[in-house]
Amino acid sequence: MNLSTPLAVSFGLSTPIIQAPMVGGPSSRELVAACSAAGALGSFGFAYTQPEEMKKQSAWVRAKTDRPFGINLFTSPQPAPIAAGSQRGALDAVAGYYRELGLPAPEPANAPYAPDLEEQLDAIAGIRPRVFTVHLNDLNQERIKAFKALDILVGGSATCVAEARRLESLGFDFFIAQGGEAGGHRGSYLRDPYESLTGTLALVRLVVRAVKLPVVAAGGIMDGAGIAAVLALGAQIAQLGTAFIPCPESGAPQIHKDLLLQETEDNTRLTEKFTGKPARGLANRFIREMNAGNAPQLAFPAQGVLTGKLRQASSKVGNPDFFNLWAGQAAPLSRALPAAELIAKLETEAVESIQKLKGMVHET
Ligand SMILES: Cc1cc2nc3c(=O)[nH]c(=O)nc-3n(C[C@H](O)[C@H](O)[C@H](O)COP(=O)(O)O)c2cc1C
Repeated sequence: MNLSTPLAVSFGLSTPIIQAPMVGGPSSRELVAACSAAGALGSFGFAYTQPEEMKKQSAWVRAKTDRPFGINLFTSPQPAPIAAGSQRGALDAVAGYYRELGLPAPEPANAPYAPDLEEQLDAIAGIRPRVFTVHLNDLNQERIKAFKALDILVGGSATCVAEARRLESLGFDFFIAQGGEAGGHRGSYLRDPYESLTGTLALVRLVVRAVKLPVVAAGGIMDGAGIAAVLALGAQIAQLGTAFIPCPESGAPQIHKDLLLQETEDNTRLTEKFTGKPARGLANRFIREMNAGNAPQLAFPAQGVLTGKLRQASSKVGNPDFFNLWAGQAAPLSRALPAAELIAKLETEAVESIQKLKGMVHET
């Protein structure tokens, strides 16, 4: 038995499941190809990837599978260059951690803090993925029109009704309702992110009522029961991030995978201290100490540059204290399965959940 929805069909999928784009390693080309080949939508998180590399990795996936895949970019504006002198507080706040790992003292973060967005968008037009999504902001209408003319389906993240309405008014094809449970960066861009932490259950119902665009639900979905639940709420596809981190194809550091599999409670926290924007991850020493002291920080994504070498070194030596272990609130439901097996299991579980619910309905 198969599970399908109109949006999944227009994406070219055999199952209404998206592997969430995950910047910083997990969304490896191997994971994207494995998810797409299994009938879900594999997605690249290319926020920090240069255009040439975006093209190379996309070509690699195309050589492995002719199934559709997606690409995601961060579209938030870059901050003005920050004078080296005014970075002192943020540097001092992390200097002790650099010392502890035996690293040279951290250096001021220099612009550009991320690849050039216009060049990345041009690369998308060249690659022509089936699906392109944006996170942390919207996108101008000319670009949306141009992508649609290339037969690319364009989506964006919304964490509140106002953002969903804005994406609809700009001509997006669909949007992702990102509930407060979600791992990684909050996609908020119109409201204070701390006031846009509505859970997936409430958010999906609110946006389904407010806008006509098809909804993808994200945040805290780890198994087939979660998928069945968001389909019942009115979403057409479920997007899962954390669930795919432990897959052998994912590029997440082994310690990140191991910790997810050991969790028994929700031990996630929101923090801005890794990158400058709030994101959800497993609470570690860096998050606890930096959040508690409300340490000075730079604007996004400059703070990510400032903490970059610390995070790299910490993950390289398998020390979970000083790098971002992004994870959603349902992380304890993680399973270490190859992507294709996980997707098959998710679909079977979703169908079983729906059938179980059907069995509860009786003529009176
Ligand atoms: C490690 C990690 C990295 C992420 N990177 C991105 C990203 O680059 N772009 C994006 O739109 N969302 C990103 N997200 C958020 C996901 O798209 C999605 O909202 C989230 O994973 C859903 O919640 P879940 O983790 O509970 O499944 C990331 C999530 C994780 C866990």
